[in-house]
Amino acid sequence: MPTGGHLAHAGHLEAQLRGDGVYLVALRDGEPAGTALLSWACHHGDMRDALPDAAEVSNLGVRPDLRGQGIGGALLSAAEQLADARGVPRIALAVADDNPDAARLYLRRGYTDHGLRATFSYPYPDETGTVREVVEHTTVLVRTRYSGP
Ligand SMILES: CC(C)(COP(=O)(O)OP(=O)(O)OC[C@H]1O[C@@H](n2cnc3c(N)ncnc32)[C@H](O)[C@@H]1OP(=O)(O)O)[C@@H](O)C(=O)NCCC(=O)NCCS
Repeated sequence: MPTGGHLAHAGHLEAQLRGDGVYLVALRDGEPAGTALLSWACHHGDMRDALPDAAEVSNLGVRPDLRGQGIGGALLSAAEQLADARGVPRIALAVADDNPDAARLYLRRGYTDHGLRATFSYPYPDETGTVREVVEHTTVLVRTRYSGP
């Protein structure tokens, strides 16, 4: 899902202040380079029902000119460490069916297809600035906490 502009960032910070999760911001030379929202429960009702014990990573995004340099992976690592430290058994995330590049990143890191599909719809401005309802079909991927030997 897209990061959605400054209102979305404010909303994610509010979620953290409420204790609903952690808003992660990666910095490059002191400037924001990427963000991710780690939530202690899944947002989508179908995901919550199927994965009541899972945290969710959403709104992962890296500045276009800085992609492919490990920042997205670092944000995911930070989210995974926080979830593991809290004892969260699983992390879920929803990846859009038309985003195989992002899916590759998650699959390489050990996320697997949970067999659940989730549809999101949200308002988003098109290239002319007109706000339209976007419908996104996603596959839910899950990472199980490493319990170790
Ligand atoms: C997906 C995304 C967060 C990854 O962050 P990143 O810093 O580019 O990722 P890393 O450098 O840690 O890892 C590289 C991997 O990210 C993925 N990736 C790279 N560029 C990407 C792009 N433009 N869009 C989507 N995924 C990309 C690939 O799997 C890549 O691995 P590869 O080089 O073997 O193909 C970032 O590319 C992005 O913001 N994309 C647009 C928004 C998006 O798709 N968010 C995910 C929503 S589920």
